[in-house]
Amino acid sequence: MSTSLILNVNGRSYPVTVNNPDMPLLWVLRDLIGLTGTKYGCGIEICGACTVLVNGRPEKSCDMNVSSAAGKMITTVEGLSADRSHPLQKAWVANQVPQCGYCQSGMLMAAAGALNAGQHGAAIASEMHNICVCGTYQRIKQAVAGL
Ligand code: FES
Ligand code: FES
Repeated sequence: MSTSLILNVNGRSYPVTVNNPDMPLLWVLRDLIGLTGTKYGCGIEICGACTVLVNGRPEKSCDMNVSSAAGKMITTVEGLSADRSHPLQKAWVANQVPQCGYCQSGMLMAAAGALNAGQHGAAIASEMHNICVCGTYQRIKQAVAGL
């Protein structure tokens, strides 16, 4: 039986209908809403590629049921800013952080969650446990050092 929900994503309301209320939020963001900045990596809550903010806190959207996301404020990488003006976006560009880029939306959202929690500088990096197979960890540390 299908279920209809309203999701608040990046300040906009999206009505969605899913066949299974346990569908991962990640699939809904990417396939139903069309926000493909959030990536699928491991699917088992390890890599962090799928990280989004839910009520300002980082959550792995591959392991969050869409029904539990309804009524909460979801922020994806597309919602950081429309014009690359967010301090994290500026720092990522200034430090040329990404290599292939696949993990980077999750990295940015993990960093955004740490910033929201009041962390600064090295403390942001120590809150981030995402995996980057390209090994951008040092540049991420440089990028958050001044924040
Ligand atoms: S895809 Fe969600 S943690 Fe890896
Ligand atoms: S930049 Fe390639 S996986 Fe992180």
